[in-house]
Amino acid sequence: MSEVSLLKQLARSLMTGQLIAATDPYRLHWHLAPVVGLMNDPNGFIQSHDRYHLFYQWNPLACRHGAKWWGHVSSDDLVHWRHEPVALLPSEEYEVNGCYSGSAVLNDGKITLIYTGNVKYANGSRTAYQCVATEKSDGTYEKQGPVILLPEGYTGHVRDPKVWQHDGMWYMVLAAQSLNLKGKVLLYRSADLQQWELRGEIAGTHLNGLKEFGYMWECPDLFAMGDQDVLLCCPQGLAAEKYQYLNLYQCGYFVGKLDYEQTRFPHGEFHELDLGFEFYAPQTTQTADGRRLLFGWLGLPDDNELAQPTVQYGWVDCMTCPRELTLRNGILCQQPVKELQQLRQGNGVVWQGVADDAPELTALSAELMLNVDAPFSLSLRDNAWLNWDGNCLTLTRRNWRTEELETRYWFGALRSLQLLLDSSSLELFINDGEACMTARYFPDPQKQTLRFSGQGTLSIHHWLLSACVIE
Ligand code: FRU
Repeated sequence: MSEVSLLKQLARSLMTGQLIAATDPYRLHWHLAPVVGLMNDPNGFIQSHDRYHLFYQWNPLACRHGAKWWGHVSSDDLVHWRHEPVALLPSEEYEVNGCYSGSAVLNDGKITLIYTGNVKYANGSRTAYQCVATEKSDGTYEKQGPVILLPEGYTGHVRDPKVWQHDGMWYMVLAAQSLNLKGKVLLYRSADLQQWELRGEIAGTHLNGLKEFGYMWECPDLFAMGDQDVLLCCPQGLAAEKYQYLNLYQCGYFVGKLDYEQTRFPHGEFHELDLGFEFYAPQTTQTADGRRLLFGWLGLPDDNELAQPTVQYGWVDCMTCPRELTLRNGILCQQPVKELQQLRQGNGVVWQGVADDAPELTALSAELMLNVDAPFSLSLRDNAWLNWDGNCLTLTRRNWRTEELETRYWFGALRSLQLLLDSSSLELFINDGEACMTARYFPDPQKQTLRFSGQGTLSIHHWLLSACVIE
């Protein structure tokens, strides 16, 4: 469809949809969510000239997956955001079924987007083009078209380029599926972002000591943390085990060291990045002050996604809060960025005592810090429950589609918990981010309280969080 036809449809979608979305009790107070339609992966996360830019996979025309656009917001503090002109829409033949996920780099001071043009054929097959677009002075993007065609030896599932600079060259990790349907990560190299050379496979099923490890690894991201390198990826096709890999698709990381010359990435074990229910396709960037920040999609495709009650209000899914990454003893830790503390209202409530005696606190849009030294339970609006028994921390929630209870697990020595709550999301950071559990949940909107129980003592710090208007 032509750009103009698509924009006409967008205008109608926004004109009718925005008012409806605003009446949804599950509309988020301080998370990034689509104005209308479906939001999925964070894309092109970058800081440029003191402003953070976040692009995102967006179907503004319906609450379903399909021919994705790139929406765009920017912020100077990661808390207050401003809408920017839509960056990409699927108007060209090489991206007719979607401007799929990708990343951004700064080239000559200009944001350059590298993304996947997705093309599906009537017979069910597909192909993919890796494409480039550059920032113009008015904040819109000019497409340069495809720079990488489908590499030989892979199916049409080749996508999600993440590009960075190293020793004066550009490098890209790219998700790919081999012809025998194994998930792989490819490494490319370029001097100019236009001519790309395929260096080889650096990770995936049957590589680096892994056996069968999934049929597709979506959204790879590779970055240095100190003298190590971390590869984030989203393997699809791992079998569920008793306490891990419990979601339909996984998201996790490997710590290793990329050998740029030999094109090898020897790495350690796979760790899940989040032990909750909805967390997928995260993307990181390095800030001017040297932090490695991450946004994830607070969603998961194909499973319960489109049964969310917000679909009736014409919008679905959102981003996680922005998080800072650190590597501690080989574990990739995540903590909410310090800028989010701006949302705290006043000094909050401080309380210490036996859990059974704790006051009821509001959970609608709130932050909670807990120091824990004995077992306790916490009911979140009677729709999700945390339980610590001294050995295992569980998060149980009522599935909004099946109405059944389902549980996720963390084992270790629990010292502290930080909980970030919004009207239909929860993000739990265990022991200063050593592990995380992220989820959507849809409690009765009238039920807004947190209730503690247990004989042990707790210390609690609770803040209400302000809503954050996006201009
Ligand atoms: C991950 C993903 C990517 C793809 C995009 C399409 O959620 O499937 O692999 O590029 O979403 O929206």
